[in-house]
Amino acid sequence: MGTNEEIDAMLQTGYPDMVQWRRYLHRHPELSFHEKETSGWIAGQLADFGCEVARTEGGYGVVATIKGERPGPVIALRADIDALPIQDEKSCEYASTVPGVMHACGHDAHTATMLGIARYYSANRALLQGERRLLFQPAEELTPGGALGMIRSGVLADVDVIYGVHLWTPLPYGVVATRSGPLMASPDEIYIDITGRGGHGGMPHETVDAVLVGSAMVQALQTIVSRNINPLEPAVVSIGSFHAGSTGNVVAERCRLTGTVRTFNEETRSRIKARLEQIVKQTAEMHGATAELDYRFGYPTVVNDSEEAERFFEVARRRMGEEAVRESTLIMAGEDFSYYLKEIPGCFMFVGAGNEECGAVYPHHHPKFDLDERSMLVSAKLMIAMAEDYASANVSKQE
Ligand code: NI
Repeated sequence: MGTNEEIDAMLQTGYPDMVQWRRYLHRHPELSFHEKETSGWIAGQLADFGCEVARTEGGYGVVATIKGERPGPVIALRADIDALPIQDEKSCEYASTVPGVMHACGHDAHTATMLGIARYYSANRALLQGERRLLFQPAEELTPGGALGMIRSGVLADVDVIYGVHLWTPLPYGVVATRSGPLMASPDEIYIDITGRGGHGGMPHETVDAVLVGSAMVQALQTIVSRNINPLEPAVVSIGSFHAGSTGNVVAERCRLTGTVRTFNEETRSRIKARLEQIVKQTAEMHGATAELDYRFGYPTVVNDSEEAERFFEVARRRMGEEAVRESTLIMAGEDFSYYLKEIPGCFMFVGAGNEECGAVYPHHHPKFDLDERSMLVSAKLMIAMAEDYASANVSKQE
């Protein structure tokens, strides 16, 4: 491929378009599994760049293939394209035009970045070693996620390695980070339905109070992490919603609790699940109520390949400078990029997008979420640098 200076210059020239694309998507967000317009628009852009475009079956995935004129490996780069059910509270000109739907996680910028990369590769086919497959994945935000559908459609066939980036406002603009091994948690969902016996608020002795049972359960569940899990092992059990009752003078018959479990390994995960089952059943029994637990497994843990994480540290230091590169902490959020990493080696990376000067101070999924758009350029450079480093290190294998 070209020199770093040439790559930078080309991406810089295309940067105003990336900003426009991102803002267009930001104005027109679509929810997970409903990315009809978004995927059609992406496919149209890709066709304009001269990419080979395919749509995945039974979903809104889009795959752009760029075949180089030289032999070499097949390298996949992935962006996610979906938005969230959140009302946009920003007042800027590119705020969401869809009530209750918003790109509050930066997937609009991931998509725009990947379009920039697609255009770059299309224009540099003559120098390209091997094939670059750019994945535009729907439904990252909603289990079971869009990654599995992409994989089932065969997007990883013959792929040697995969890279993905999340722009990340908790990290300042200019900083990039990842870590070897486990990086992001597996986010499981829990749904607990308690049934007591409703009745008159003034005659509690004739009832089984679902509010009381629910309260006891929420308290008891907090002992799982504090008493049953090794303190050196990161884990979370959170109850996020508690719904029971309708008025003050009636004892509630039912109570519904929903929550999330976050872990980094299977042993901890199954231990938490087993304790949840015990506590839910026995707390209900103790009060004369019944309860059912619906434990839904979320995405697996994101686990980076150690060789590819090492490549990140080398490539990023060389490309962005020593001071820009950090080792990431473990992140308790989940990502369905984990499914790709279960199939083939690869690396998921964070690119800093936080900046007070442009109001990018809110966490992901916040109604005022925004990011420093220049992080798209950093992300494009990083992904191309990773891919081309892999290609030059592995080109001989293919010849
Ligand atoms: Ni996200």
